[in-house]
Amino acid sequence: MDAPAMENNPTFSGSMKAAVRSEYGLADVLSVREVPIPAPKAHEILVKIHATTVSRTDCAMLTGTPFVYRLFIGLWKPKQATTGTDFAGEIEAIGSEVTAFKAGDRVWGFNDNGLSTHARYAAISEREAIEIIPENIPYQVAVASAEGAHYALNFLNKVRLEAGQRALVNGATGAIGSVLVQLLKHKGLYVTAVCATPNMEQVRALGADMVIDYTRQDFTREAGQYHFVFDAVGKSTFGKCKPLLYPGGVYISSELGPYAQNLFLPLLTRVFSDKRVVFPVPVNVKQSLQTMRKLLGNGQFRPLIDREYALEDIREAFRYAASGQKIGNVVVRF
Ligand SMILES: NC(=O)c1ccc[n+]([C@@H]2O[C@H](COP(=O)([O-])OP(=O)(O)OC[C@H]3O[C@@H](n4cnc5c(N)ncnc54)[C@H](OP(=O)(O)O)[C@@H]3O)[C@@H](O)[C@H]2O)c1
Repeated sequence: MDAPAMENNPTFSGSMKAAVRSEYGLADVLSVREVPIPAPKAHEILVKIHATTVSRTDCAMLTGTPFVYRLFIGLWKPKQATTGTDFAGEIEAIGSEVTAFKAGDRVWGFNDNGLSTHARYAAISEREAIEIIPENIPYQVAVASAEGAHYALNFLNKVRLEAGQRALVNGATGAIGSVLVQLLKHKGLYVTAVCATPNMEQVRALGADMVIDYTRQDFTREAGQYHFVFDAVGKSTFGKCKPLLYPGGVYISSELGPYAQNLFLPLLTRVFSDKRVVFPVPVNVKQSLQTMRKLLGNGQFRPLIDREYALEDIREAFRYAASGQKIGNVVVRF
């Protein structure tokens, strides 16, 4: 049983600001309030949070959609009052049985079922996916290398990539797409990226070999042939993208698609088609963070950061993230 740890430490007697809600809904259900600083239990670390993000995962947690997600986060109302799925910060104190970390460590972590990190402090189990931040990496850079990066890695882990192959990334400016472009280039693929006119230079800077402006050209009519089509914003379908693929080519989307087709197309295309659909079920956050830690440390990856908000303005941050128009990551800094 977890023993209460360090109850007499004055650090834990105070209060802190946190973004809380008691029901599912849009940004209006959220308010920033004073709540008690949590005391870490035996296997928990207390993190003083310096940066967190408002991602599409946070938006899904706020609204409780798709409904199936509620099996993990609370069926009729959210299990966790405080929102937030990722964090970067400094360990302020540790529970009596923590062995993996010590006070003063700079750490970052992510859990797509919530960590209550839209707050100044969070008490988090040491068994969560948590990594030490490389020395030269600021908190906001580390935290912006978690959510989108985890989903992007779960696209790439589902296929066999070889240098020289050709990939198309739709939604190359999003949290997932901007990581995909960089990681595919890192692996030596030729990358065509799809985005809107104002973001073309930014996407070229991520390393894309060719950029298609979707406001002027329908990329599904593009003559090139690809080993992979990664629809990182789920705006297209396998049916539309199939002609772009070589025989043996693979289509992956971040969304379920019309009638949740991307859930059953993987089975059908395995039997009836020479071009396959794969659904990127996201697994192993710990491994994703370890990969990103190496890439960040070696200077081989830099996340796209769009806007930064103060915690007090988190409702605005949620509205912007939910608009589907953010570029990479929306960071909340303390
Ligand atoms: N399967 C999973 O486990 C999972 C997990 C997380 C998220 N998701 C889903 O994955 C999707 C992407 O997530 P994200 O966090 O990467 O999204 P995001 O950061 O919100 O993506 C926004 C970007 O998409 C671009 N975009 C919007 N409409 C577009 C279009 N028609 N064609 C091409 N690009 C377009 C926008 O750039 P422009 O200004 O250039 O249009 C914007 O930069 C979301 O639908 C999210 O719900 C799935």
